[in-house]
Amino acid sequence: MVARPSGTDHRVIHPGVSCRFRGQEMSACRVEPDAGLTRVPRRAMMVTKQGNATMDAQATERSGLALPVVDISGLASDAPLVRAQVGRAIRAACLDKGFMYVVGHGIDAGLRARVLMQAASFFTLPEAQKMAVSMAKSPCNRGYEPIRGQTLEAGAPPDLKESFYSGEDLPLDDPRVRAGKFNHGPNQWPEGMPEFRATMEAYFDAMQELSARLMRGLALSLDLPEDHFDGFCRQPMSNLRLIHYPPQPATPLPGEKGCGAHCDWGALTLLMQDEAGGLQVHDEAAGWVDAPPLADSYVVNLGDMIARWTNDRYRSTLHRVVNVSGRERYSVPFFFSGNPDEPVVCLPGCALPGEAPRYPPTTVEGHLREMYARTYA
Ligand SMILES: [Fe+2]
Repeated sequence: MVARPSGTDHRVIHPGVSCRFRGQEMSACRVEPDAGLTRVPRRAMMVTKQGNATMDAQATERSGLALPVVDISGLASDAPLVRAQVGRAIRAACLDKGFMYVVGHGIDAGLRARVLMQAASFFTLPEAQKMAVSMAKSPCNRGYEPIRGQTLEAGAPPDLKESFYSGEDLPLDDPRVRAGKFNHGPNQWPEGMPEFRATMEAYFDAMQELSARLMRGLALSLDLPEDHFDGFCRQPMSNLRLIHYPPQPATPLPGEKGCGAHCDWGALTLLMQDEAGGLQVHDEAAGWVDAPPLADSYVVNLGDMIARWTNDRYRSTLHRVVNVSGRERYSVPFFFSGNPDEPVVCLPGCALPGEAPRYPPTTVEGHLREMYARTYA
């Protein structure tokens, strides 16, 4: 269960949604049962071909999606103006909800499909086989977390999901592991799944590269040199998480859902989701809005580290999962948190004239340890 630290206060940020704050920093949120559970049409699918997707606000409006669609294929262009145009689209999304659909990402569709298939196969293994790689056995939070093993929303029942974590596979004698770096160490892999490890490792590598590309786009969006975050992207801390959400029961416990309302801690989250739907993003004006599946896309959102870096100019937004599809839901978030030693200090141009930085300077590792301690202390 999530403990409540001292020196905090609770504020209602939307009818039915109250969040815990320490100063300006928001952490766990509580959502009243059924608050804002009104739904918009779940299948607002827009047919999109990779590399040929629209990215402007009008196209997003036409699609009926609540989140902007950003085609990042231009980040690979040799033309600075084309890359800058993608940076502007990213900026608009970050200033809005801090959530966007990313298309034109270049990740192989076959690899994406194999990851989802391997995930579905893993979760059908007998419980004993999954528990053989239990996260409880890992010094660095890798492996299987059983259903109801996490409570992301303070005061809500445990999340209706099970998951599997992996990351950069480092042996115990790696200098970073020996130095006790946060969340560094070896993975655990399930027995009897010959394709599983190679699939996850190939996908992990591809997502590291995509995340670094997106950080270049983020730098452009902030009018920073394009390589501003290159140091941050070296030897980054990243986690790949496979998640299985069973269908929401017909009579759930009050407040019970797949994944409680929360903000992410790190820099970027890149979510691949199947076609079940269920992801919801909190909008100050509209309440909870659906982020339905969009073909060949990632849902990318900013974590608390970016909000801290940008003096809250960019948003880390509450989100949750309510799987009312009546079927199993599989999703695969990739959490990109960067090099643990990089400083996290208010970025140039992010504090308004006369405005002081809202957060004390820290490092990536310091920020993550702080968030972890606040949630699990
Ligand atoms: Fe999240």
